[in-house]
Amino acid sequence: MLRGTVLCAVLAGLCVIVTLCPVSCQLSQEDAETIVELHNTYRGQVVPSAAYMTKMKWDENLKIQAESYAVKCVWDYDQDLNLDEKAMGQNIYNSKDPFNATKAMEQWFLQNISYNFNHKPSCQDEILCRHYIQMVWANSLSVGCALHRCDTMERLSDKPTDFLVCNYRPAGYFGDKKPYERGEWCSRCPENLPRCDENLCVPESSEDVDEQTTDREQPQSNVGRVSTSLILSTSLVTLLLLEF
Ligand SMILES: *[C@@H]1O[C@H](CO)[C@@H](O)[C@H](O)[C@H]1NC(C)=O
Ligand SMILES: *[C@@H]1O[C@H](CO)[C@@H](O)[C@H](O)[C@H]1NC(C)=O
Repeated sequence: MLRGTVLCAVLAGLCVIVTLCPVSCQLSQEDAETIVELHNTYRGQVVPSAAYMTKMKWDENLKIQAESYAVKCVWDYDQDLNLDEKAMGQNIYNSKDPFNATKAMEQWFLQNISYNFNHKPSCQDEILCRHYIQMVWANSLSVGCALHRCDTMERLSDKPTDFLVCNYRPAGYFGDKKPYERGEWCSRCPENLPRCDENLCVPESSEDVDEQTTDREQPQSNVGRVSTSLILSTSLVTLLLLEF
């Protein structure tokens, strides 16, 4: 970040164009919050109920990895997801309309229609249930997402498309294993997540979790704002110098 800022200051005017990305090319803070909230709302609503379902948290590392994948603008999953060093789950979404995070989450979760907990197999085809399974994978603790405006989308469209990529850890996967254990809500929460919060297993003190998330998110956006204004003022100075 610091090195980026210094470089930008040197390159001045040019850098403003690079840094001031249009709004649609990035996931807003509000959208990120909606995504985490809706994951947790949906996780607390699964049918049948879950004996153990964790509350998900935002993860900046997963977000950064999602960003580097989203810019590729290929309508498919990252083929390297299963490499040991990555081992992430991933959900993807595209929209030609202005991006709506609520709608995206709704669309993923509505794959519940194709999933039958009591049947074997629970789902006929991975493509019908994959997003749902990952959303309600009991052990997935972290999610981080990125939105990228693609001018064209390989394997999908030659029209501008918003591409949402969410990465998860630990990864959920399609197969014989169920995404969660059925049972009374919170009846089998693990020792480190003993408390029940809206059907989800959380740490003893909820403040721990809240502090962690805000701590992580706020400095990030401040850094962004600081460097943008630094760049803006640097380029203004440069422009003034050029004028005279
Ligand atoms: C986003 O999608 C949700 C669910 O489909 C809808 O209720 C809401 O009105 C949409 N918001 C906007 C701004 O279009
Ligand atoms: C799927 O989820 C929706 C939205 O929460 C719910 O209304 C519906 O009953 C669920 N369907 C099944 C089959 O679980």
